[in-house]
Amino acid sequence: MKTRITELFGIDYPIQCGGMLWIAKPELAAAISNTGAMGNLTSGNYNAADDLRAAVDQTRKLTDKPFIVNITTMPSIRLPVELLQDFFRVCCEKKVTAIEIAGAPVDTFLGREFIPMAKDAGVKVLHKVGTVKHAVHAEKVGYDAVTIAGFEEGGFPHKDNVSTMVLVPKVREAVNIPLLAAGGMADGRSLAAALALGADGVMMATRFLATKDSGVHPNIYKVLVEKTEADTALQLQTLLAGFGLQVRALKNEIMEKIAKIEAEGGDLSELLPLISGERARQVWQDGNAEEAMLTIGQSVGRISDIPTVAELVERMVREAEAALRSGLSVFSG
Ligand SMILES: Cc1cc2nc3c(=O)[nH]c(=O)nc-3n(C[C@H](O)[C@H](O)[C@H](O)COP(=O)(O)O)c2cc1C
Repeated sequence: MKTRITELFGIDYPIQCGGMLWIAKPELAAAISNTGAMGNLTSGNYNAADDLRAAVDQTRKLTDKPFIVNITTMPSIRLPVELLQDFFRVCCEKKVTAIEIAGAPVDTFLGREFIPMAKDAGVKVLHKVGTVKHAVHAEKVGYDAVTIAGFEEGGFPHKDNVSTMVLVPKVREAVNIPLLAAGGMADGRSLAAALALGADGVMMATRFLATKDSGVHPNIYKVLVEKTEADTALQLQTLLAGFGLQVRALKNEIMEKIAKIEAEGGDLSELLPLISGERARQVWQDGNAEEAMLTIGQSVGRISDIPTVAELVERMVREAEAALRSGLSVFSG
């Protein structure tokens, strides 16, 4: 399956794992890259540049294939901008294949020197965006590729609530750089549809969370298989208004508490204990899915098993090829 994304990254299949805090670590990144897709090492898992350096080395021990490093460029107490700049420098020093930026653009948030720094190091830089306007900006300031994420996505979709189905062709018409479609992607039919809409590949996260290689608690796997597409909710519109974002996470007791606090005009001090990343880290390990804000996308409704990543990618490619072939035979009569 050759597309501009497989060519850009030097991978076999146009399938990329998205950033996943506490989940996208060396083991999962390498397992995905070893299938011929693109694994993700999420820098937010680490508290210091040296820790990310060690994680890159560890991933390279587990795979000799390309992987991408996610840097989430949002203001954070644990991850100040200076540390995010150091993460970017580590990626350039280690000459990783690519960096996935999620949040504010590199040129404005980290500094104008950073995209040229990556270009000098031969590191590709991709921006995950939620609007056509931001995709156009990414192309203008020199990103090598862009991911457009519709509001189906788990994590932090744009507040405009536009679906992947509408955004992918709009972005395809607006930019020339390679394009990944994200939000709601779960299988080979998603991949075929994304290619038909004009994307060069897909990025997905919830589907990779629901694999044996993510290593979460068995209760979480059960939740991922049982929950439907109607079991996620959007919240934090007030808290994240300044960034144009909101959160999509599994409906649970914590999300109900968050909704109540937001509706009553509560402030950050009330929300912080509920939305802290530390809570989520605990839940992925302990399995009590009511106890944290779990960023999961609507694609959870399309998950009915927990394969290995190798089984998942092999199946996706087979399904996508079949879907594309049957589509072609429909068109040609
Ligand atoms: C468990 C989990 C953790 C995530 N953590 C991050 C993160 O740290 N940084 C980020 O940019 N996106 C994060 N996301 C969002 C994904 O990278 C991706 O944009 C989104 O999940 C794609 O939609 P999908 O879940 O329907 O595939 C996370 C998603 C999940 C499921």
